[in-house]
Amino acid sequence: MTSITVKKGPDGTRIDFGGIVDLKSMFKFENNDVNKPLIGTNLPFKLLSRGKVRDTYIIAPGVLLMVATDRISTFDVVLNQGIPGKGEVLNKISQFWLAEIERAGIIRTHSIPGKLIIEPKEVAMVLDGRSSIVSRKIPIMTECIARGYISGSAWKEYRKNGTVTGIKLPDGIIESGRLQHPIFTPSTKSQTGHDQNITFEQLTAEIGREKTSMLKEITLAVYEHAHNYALPRGIIIADTKLEFGINGSEQLVLIDELLTPDSSRFWPSDTYLPGGPQISYDKQYVRDYVESVGWNKSPDNIPVLPEDVIANTSKKYIQAFETLSGSIFRTL
Ligand SMILES: Nc1ncnc2c1ncn2[C@@H]1O[C@H](COP(=O)(O)OP(=O)(O)OP(=O)(O)O)[C@@H](O)[C@H]1O
Ligand SMILES: [Mg+2]
Repeated sequence: MTSITVKKGPDGTRIDFGGIVDLKSMFKFENNDVNKPLIGTNLPFKLLSRGKVRDTYIIAPGVLLMVATDRISTFDVVLNQGIPGKGEVLNKISQFWLAEIERAGIIRTHSIPGKLIIEPKEVAMVLDGRSSIVSRKIPIMTECIARGYISGSAWKEYRKNGTVTGIKLPDGIIESGRLQHPIFTPSTKSQTGHDQNITFEQLTAEIGREKTSMLKEITLAVYEHAHNYALPRGIIIADTKLEFGINGSEQLVLIDELLTPDSSRFWPSDTYLPGGPQISYDKQYVRDYVESVGWNKSPDNIPVLPEDVIANTSKKYIQAFETLSGSIFRTL
């Protein structure tokens, strides 16, 4: 391969992968077919992290390239098939919210202004739409969770103790019920194993009162802004997880993916019925299918999704993007 260049110009950032590129050495497509969903990348940059869905590379000092693949996970296991359009939808939803939160003046984000131009065009065909470049920050190792409705682990704790991560809530809230005031329930960002809830006081002991209060205030402000934006459009954002980083001058900056169905609980508002669990906006078909075949949730025995489950899931992701952004997604 010829040499790669990353250049920042007046129109944006240009990544040129050089002359002729062997796509199959840089990308893994389902069934090894370049027209199928992208399920992995192997770009010639230093890998910062490979998550369940996104691959993040360091492409220049202080600059990250985040590539959202079409991988899908359910019950914490990544499936072998991808969902067409999913990576692009996730990236675009995140970009939409990052711009919206900056526009609303709530907090600065890691977005780098300008276009991302990728060359040559064979590589652009794969990376365009699903990739973002962002400014690298020092992450605060806390998942900042805001909850406006009570569900999942929060519901389990409330039912048992009347609290959520130690916060006492009023009696009589039902499962998936809306809270009178959204709450901030941070957890540790564990490198291995499961994240653990921590109380406001524990977080204060770690990072200080001022920073903890700011994280809480900003997390709730971002959540409320997004919730109030999405609700009249038919999506309930029940809860969300934010991450923050610190820049050179010690200021807090919003980083990572933002308000996507992967980092939040999205519920369709037309079928919202508190008193039980809600169907998830995006993964309902996949979850229903893997449950219907009696999958034991083991990674050694991953079910094969039928075409209609994949197509319906793809439609749901696209619908989420179109509903939130008011833009039309390209035809797949
Ligand atoms: N601007 C940034 N600067 C530095 N690190 C960042 C920035 N934005 C995101 N990160 C970090 O990059 C990593 C991205 O990981 P990613 O979300 O893909 O996988 P994961 O969190 O390990 O797993 P999951 O797939 O469950 O989300 C996270 O550790 C996040 O904190
Ligand atoms: Mg993550």
